[in-house]
Amino acid sequence: MTVLSSIFFLLSACEQESSTEIQTSDESASVREILELPDHMPTPAVPDFNPLTNAKIQLGRFLFYDEKLSANQAQSCSSCHDQSLAFSDGVAQPLGSTGHQLVRNSQGLANVIYHTTFTWSNNSFLELEDQLNVPIRADNPIELGVTDAKLNEVLLRFEQDEEYLALFAAAFPDEDDTISMNKIIFSLASFVRSMISASSPYDQYLAGDKTALTEQQIAGYQLFNGEKFECFHCHSGINFSSSYRDANTASDATEFPFFNNGLYNVGGDGSYPEEDQGLYDASLDPADKGLFRPQSLRNIELTAPYMHDGSIATLREVIEHYARGGSLTESGVNAGDGKNSPLKSALILGFDATDEEIEAVIAFLESLTDEEFITSPKFSNPFEE
Ligand code: HEC
Ligand code: HEC
Repeated sequence: MTVLSSIFFLLSACEQESSTEIQTSDESASVREILELPDHMPTPAVPDFNPLTNAKIQLGRFLFYDEKLSANQAQSCSSCHDQSLAFSDGVAQPLGSTGHQLVRNSQGLANVIYHTTFTWSNNSFLELEDQLNVPIRADNPIELGVTDAKLNEVLLRFEQDEEYLALFAAAFPDEDDTISMNKIIFSLASFVRSMISASSPYDQYLAGDKTALTEQQIAGYQLFNGEKFECFHCHSGINFSSSYRDANTASDATEFPFFNNGLYNVGGDGSYPEEDQGLYDASLDPADKGLFRPQSLRNIELTAPYMHDGSIATLREVIEHYARGGSLTESGVNAGDGKNSPLKSALILGFDATDEEIEAVIAFLESLTDEEFITSPKFSNPFEE
């Protein structure tokens, strides 16, 4: 063990006092090293069944950028998750590989490792490995379209590629050398877990550089954390989302937070547009209409348009939505005033904000933009090297 890693070991050994069974402190030392986490970032939880290794991350990076992973070889993960946009795609709702229209906005992928639940609204995916089946395997809507009928054909593409055979062998040294969807998903999950954004001006500020934020940004940070704007209740903690856990979160303390933030009120009963009503679509409990996960706000400047359906174009309009206490849809099938929704969260009350205050909060949100994250070769397209 090097000096540096033994320091990490000691540090994380202390941090681990209230630890859960998710990780031993030895593993957490290596997780911190692999992720090159700065001190102000907590040690994330990684499931025992898929320990993080550099070899899996490296394989996952190739797979993420490879169109071979879609049935018709027309798309890769990066088609909808573009590094220069913090792994979002700039459109309200993307098309899948066969041209199928998705109803949700592509999520940015920074610090996904700290979330307790995945996607805009799902309380049954408790690990990334569960979620990743959807873009790869689902047939309605089709994203990459690797359905049961196409599975062997897709796996064969990787089996016939010498470079991949070597990458798979390095990533799964203790297993036989067949290439399986399981290995693909475990590697992609490892790559996504490695996408840490922790070098923004906000991070530099937290790490002790008090000049990293402007006065306006600091004022915006205070407003964000104040009882008038109320943002911090739902966008809380180091990752600005109450969907949060780390290696020290006891498993029974894991939260599954979903909120209705008053985006719609179709027909006056709190409904959302028929094509996507959030948690309700799975539970069929009317109280779950419009329940979505508060997205992390890291790199939020780069991930427009906003909300689960990409219906809000700018950060200014997002803040105006909250200041109004909900959004008004004036006409059409989705007409209704979210401000009067019987289902919206009690935290979405609306508030009077001056232009100066709104500007300050926007400036603070812009301090979460991490140039290193969007340019780092660790996450870039390995086929363009
Ligand atoms: C056609 C566009 C598209 C493709 C291709 C795609 N995604 Fe996504 N991704 C999305 C959308 C849209 C969402 C939000 C889904 C939802 O809320 O149901 C999402 C969500 C995610 C999330 C959840 C993030 C979070 O914070 O919970 C992860 C992780 C993810 N994608 C990774 C991947 C990986 C890895 C691939 C390749 C195997 C991939 N995606 C392919 C559009 C796409
Ligand atoms: C009651 C909880 C709650 C509060 C309070 C709240 N938000 Fe949100 N926020 C959410 C939820 C839930 C979503 C996703 C809603 C959706 O997609 O329909 C969201 C989405 C967002 C988004 C879009 C994220 C993306 O990637 O598209 C931004 C930006 C945002 N909130 C900023 C703020 C700001 C700024 C405040 C304070 C003025 C705030 N939020 C207050 C729950 C909340």
